[in-house]
Amino acid sequence: MQDRALAGVTALVTGASRGFGRGIAAALSGAGAQVVGVARDGGALGELRAELGESFTPVPANAADPVVAGELIDKYRPGVLVLNAGATPLPRPIQHHTWETFSRNWDVDVAHVFHWAREALLAPLAPGSTVVTLSSGAALFGSPLSGGYAGAKAAIRWLTDYAADESQRAGLGIRFVSVLPQLSPETALGAVYAAAYAARDGAGAAARGGPGGVLTPEQVGQAVTGLVTAPGQNQNAYLVTAAGLRPLP
Ligand SMILES: NC(=O)c1ccc[n+]([C@@H]2O[C@H](COP(=O)([O-])OP(=O)(O)OC[C@H]3O[C@@H](n4cnc5c(N)ncnc54)[C@H](OP(=O)(O)O)[C@@H]3O)[C@@H](O)[C@H]2O)c1
Repeated sequence: MQDRALAGVTALVTGASRGFGRGIAAALSGAGAQVVGVARDGGALGELRAELGESFTPVPANAADPVVAGELIDKYRPGVLVLNAGATPLPRPIQHHTWETFSRNWDVDVAHVFHWAREALLAPLAPGSTVVTLSSGAALFGSPLSGGYAGAKAAIRWLTDYAADESQRAGLGIRFVSVLPQLSPETALGAVYAAAYAARDGAGAAARGGPGGVLTPEQVGQAVTGLVTAPGQNQNAYLVTAAGLRPLP
């Protein structure tokens, strides 16, 4: 990646207070972007501001609220929009979910991608803008202890494809791309599931990671920043492991 390749660019990251979102915000800031970080925990966002300085603007808000999406797209018109916010579903077998717990990731993760992608198309963001959404490897492989999570993440990949198609049909020049990270025990969400699958299967596969070892928030940040800055990364979806990005057909 070029040093300061994103100088002069405004990037907005949802779920920037911890985990992958924090790693993405730090990497984008490192590449020179002015980063706006959205999450509900203003204290954690304040800590990130202290770390990144004036290149980071904290915005405590609920990213799944359509009014928040509309206001912040109008206010910041980001050249890079990373839709990363996500809920941690209850780690239980399917029969122990209620419809409400099962559908949690639809109400947060999918709803937020829907609202923000729609606002990005309607604004529209400037030609050359990039919208990155966080799907999950679970969309490909399933996740039997997390209710509707895998389906919600598959819907995010489809929503991103549909938005890419609408952008192309209208000649908007906005790129939409989804990333599908492997399970990582290095985040609050991932730690819950690494522990749940280890308890259920008696194995530490999630803790050992996939190709290249355990995926870290820093690696996800570098992968997303690379997608935005490197030429030739033109697929609609990528698997993300510690070994890097793998384009998906
Ligand atoms: N870790 C993994 O293994 C893994 C694998 C594949 C995909 N993913 C996806 O990657 C994304 C980040 O996950 P993570 O592992 O980094 O999880 P995490 O550590 O639990 O972080 C989730 C982030 O989302 C924010 N968030 C949740 N609900 C929100 C809302 N309504 N409005 C605004 N912000 C909200 C949280 O901040 P507040 O609580 O402060 O609002 C936090 O910053 C998620 O979409 C997740 O599904 C994770």
